[in-house]
Amino acid sequence: MADQIGYSQKVMEHFMNPHNVGVIENPDGYGKVGNPVCGDLMEIFIRVKDDVIEDIRFRTFGCGSAIATSSMVTDLAKGKTLDEAMKITRDDVATELEGLPPRKMHCSNLAADALHAAIQDYREKQKKE
Ligand code: FES
Repeated sequence: MADQIGYSQKVMEHFMNPHNVGVIENPDGYGKVGNPVCGDLMEIFIRVKDDVIEDIRFRTFGCGSAIATSSMVTDLAKGKTLDEAMKITRDDVATELEGLPPRKMHCSNLAADALHAAIQDYREKQKKE
């Protein structure tokens, strides 16, 4: 059934059993992005130690693809340096999920953008300290 509407097995797995769901209290970095067209919203929280993303959580008010892409982007970013995590692209997220239906590609944009926003937030805070 999932195949018939174009979702890969990987997308279904991450949708049914998403990784890194939740919030981090007083996070080192926080990113929030929304898509004005569909109204979906994604938040990413990061804990950083020695320039490495030690912990990462997400909260997504959105479609199944948005949940799967949030789960995947947090898996990809965890344990990476901030520079490495900044290089995770929208395409990387979709590729790791073995593709998304064309109408759902924008959902992976949201995930990568929220991650980058959280890293930017962390860097802005560092500058102020
Ligand atoms: S439909 Fe909007 S993020 Fe998926």
